[in-house]
Amino acid sequence: MRAPDRPPALSVRGVGKSYGGTIALDHVDLEIAEGTIVGLLGHNGAGKTTLMSLVAGLVRPDAGEIEVLGHSVARHPRRARRELGLAPQELGIYPPLTVRQNLQFFAELAGLRGKEARRRTEEVAEPLALTGLMDRPASRLSGGQQRRVHTAMALIHRPRLVLLDEPTAGVDVETRARLVAHVRELAAQGTAVCYSTHYLPEIEDLAADVAVLHQGRVIARGSVDELVRRHGDSAVELVFSGAPPELDLPWPVTRQGEDTLLVRVEQPHLVTARVLAALGDAAVRLSALRVVRPSLDNVFLRLTAGQHSDNGEDHASTDRIEAEQHA
Ligand SMILES: Nc1ncnc2c1ncn2[C@@H]1O[C@H](COP(=O)(O)OP(=O)(O)OP(=O)(O)O)[C@@H](O)[C@H]1O
Ligand SMILES: [Mg+2]
Repeated sequence: MRAPDRPPALSVRGVGKSYGGTIALDHVDLEIAEGTIVGLLGHNGAGKTTLMSLVAGLVRPDAGEIEVLGHSVARHPRRARRELGLAPQELGIYPPLTVRQNLQFFAELAGLRGKEARRRTEEVAEPLALTGLMDRPASRLSGGQQRRVHTAMALIHRPRLVLLDEPTAGVDVETRARLVAHVRELAAQGTAVCYSTHYLPEIEDLAADVAVLHQGRVIARGSVDELVRRHGDSAVELVFSGAPPELDLPWPVTRQGEDTLLVRVEQPHLVTARVLAALGDAAVRLSALRVVRPSLDNVFLRLTAGQHSDNGEDHASTDRIEAEQHA
């Protein structure tokens, strides 16, 4: 918990950015408190990388204001930059240098010297399982190992705001779990983390809050539970042997495929008895009844329905949402 008089780790207000005719970000507001992890979700091209680049001062916004721990990125870029660590989507390691040299080089760039730089190099390697790889040239690491070095570089100077742009792209299951555990630990120590991923279960593992970016706008923000409650579709699913009957119920009933009905209702477990009663004689043909709870995947697809950022492809047809719900 931060004291009321302390600025948030990140404050983004009314930020806009266009590349030629492409609006990458449009009136984006986002705040991240110290000790909080925000999972940044969005389709390809939604604006996640652009947002992180702006926060890190690599790209200038066309409009709006960004502050890192109260330091304006536009007016005090060095002070802001000192407080943050960015692991960009694109790998930025030096292939001829060993893992240790890469880390020390970054430590020195971040202003650490001598013993302190060496100590931090060893410290940051451990949770990312790099200790055994320290003397290997980065060019001879696997893709996932290189990604781990790249992530370690962002953490080397103990930044209070960490921006991780798809840190688990291409890493194996064990590394993913390690990284998630380490990010949680950093947050528990007070670090604010902005973490983009296309792998939604990771957000749940991180116990992260969520910001959904869609076509350059933040269209939803909150905890996973809040979003699921607000935007998820709960339902009672009824499967019949043969064609489903007509049901007279006060909730929307939709047919799915040949033999299934979905009764959409906020608290499905409270209404199953009523649904069963409404079946009448058709109850003998009921082969399965299931309470369907929405997942974060389901909510994400629903929120971004029909307007895929990149190619106009509809990623959230009703069928797809329902299929996700059953997962
Ligand atoms: N340097 C650039 N020049 C022109 N357009 C750009 C540039 N960088 C990004 N864009 C455009 O800005 C939009 C947002 O891109 P951005 O890279 O921020 O998306 P993203 O959410 O990170 O996507 P992904 O999930 O694929 O990494 C896209 O339409 C993209 O084509
Ligand atoms: Mg990106």
